[in-house]
Amino acid sequence: MKTTRVTTTDKVVDSFETDLLVYLAIQVKDKAPLCDTAVMDPVKKAFDLGDFKAKEGEQLFYYPPTGTKKKHASAKRILVLGLGEIQSEKDAAMVCDSLREAGGHLAGACEKIRAKEIVLCLPALDIPGPEQVAKALIEGLLLGDYRFAKYKQTTRKDTDYPGLEAIKFACKSSVKSVRKGVTQGRIWAQAACAARDMAHEPGNGWTSADFAAFAKALAKTHGLTYRCIEKKEMEKLGMGGILAVNQGSAIPPRMVILEYQPEKKSETLLLVGKGITFDSGGISLKPSAGMEEMKYDMAGGAAVLAAMQAVGEEKPNIGVVAIIPATDNMPSGSAVRPGDIIRHFNQVTAEIVNTDAEGRMILADALAYGIKTYAPDCVVDVATLTGAVIIGLGHHYSGLISNNDALAKSLEEAGKQAGEPLWRLPLNKHYKKQIESKVADIKNIGGKPGGTITAAAYLSNFVGKTPWAHLDIAGTAWDFTEKSYIPKGPSGIGVRTFLTLIKNWTMGKLKQE
Ligand code: BES
Ligand code: MN
Ligand code: ZN
Repeated sequence: MKTTRVTTTDKVVDSFETDLLVYLAIQVKDKAPLCDTAVMDPVKKAFDLGDFKAKEGEQLFYYPPTGTKKKHASAKRILVLGLGEIQSEKDAAMVCDSLREAGGHLAGACEKIRAKEIVLCLPALDIPGPEQVAKALIEGLLLGDYRFAKYKQTTRKDTDYPGLEAIKFACKSSVKSVRKGVTQGRIWAQAACAARDMAHEPGNGWTSADFAAFAKALAKTHGLTYRCIEKKEMEKLGMGGILAVNQGSAIPPRMVILEYQPEKKSETLLLVGKGITFDSGGISLKPSAGMEEMKYDMAGGAAVLAAMQAVGEEKPNIGVVAIIPATDNMPSGSAVRPGDIIRHFNQVTAEIVNTDAEGRMILADALAYGIKTYAPDCVVDVATLTGAVIIGLGHHYSGLISNNDALAKSLEEAGKQAGEPLWRLPLNKHYKKQIESKVADIKNIGGKPGGTITAAAYLSNFVGKTPWAHLDIAGTAWDFTEKSYIPKGPSGIGVRTFLTLIKNWTMGKLKQE
């Protein structure tokens, strides 16, 4: 993945040599837009002519005259980018998303003119503060500047814009806060882009071994503890779920674990992500139309691992453990059959009625093992678990199911702040009843009604009393609500929600009741 250089300055921008000097302008009803005095004159002229209102994403380009005494003479181009109306009654989370959108629009503008390096002048807003403004802008810009061209020949014209090389943030004051926001936004966006990269990879480009290699490399760079449970050890430990799903595969399964602990002993959050690197359905084979999309069935694992990249860089003051059960789900003569009965790590037995309900089987072992081994204060799993969540919520909300109101609330808040909204669904004994089996403790499907919830009901057998939340991202990990900073395809969802959850937690806002 390319890395863009990001810097912050409080020097006067007039003399900066740059491909593009960018200012942001706020739309005001029936009046000229609000903007920096440096661009007031052209903005006012354009507004009076009816050419520019500073609507969201609207762009006013101009070319400053050259000459040593002229303002902005060293900038090749100037762009005034519309933010739309930002009313003070809007809450901080909404303003941040408008800023992310602006960042995404800016990335689009840079692509059009093939800008290599730009200078972005930060707008002065009342809410949120300068740190949040800078963070949201850089997030949108880097997420919007994302491209996955690994498998394309670089000589092709439409692919040879490699994206931004350098971004300079210019602010007039609060340089320390701005720098902090810029750094955090960069780290979070790069992590989300890493998750997109993983999800982009096809089943032959990203296997359980790639999860392990990525985690190992992260551990080395950031001093995290890496562990990988291989097939033999799974057998010894009795991880019947992941072993059963892997039975038809030619690639060994891996349970990849990364642990971060702060120096001072603290609470621990456990993250578990579904790492099905390709889901054919197994013997309960999926229809071939659209099956190729099932390469993104590891997006939960990708989110968890990518979040650890940022955790490793930021070193928060709570512990975070990530577990990714990873395998593909394939049919073969040795594959698990409908009707087979398996025994999970915690001794719970399950009747496998449909081999395509494989995500819950691998998550079950990971949850039970993770809780037993790391005794976390809370656990969140994330998975492209059910088609039903797409029927229910479409591509605009991820499903949330939890046994703990405080944790659910914290996650909802984190999702809102990250621009990755969650919608909570219920779970009670009636749904649990749907997965009762005649021959085993539980069965792995609960029929069509409430499919997202009965999948979570299965998982609830493996978390005991630990505060637990489950995120179903089947509808949002791919083709999430289209925005300027969210392209079609893998969205990298979950990464920034987790990082927000961790950040809020370390700020003492989310102590469990
Ligand atoms: N990976 C799928 C869920 C999925 C579907 C993700 C569509 C993204 C888009 C999961 O393993 C699956 O196959 N679920 C089944 C469960 C069913 C057999 C109970 C489903 O949703 O159809
Ligand atoms: Mn499946
Ligand atoms: Zn699946």
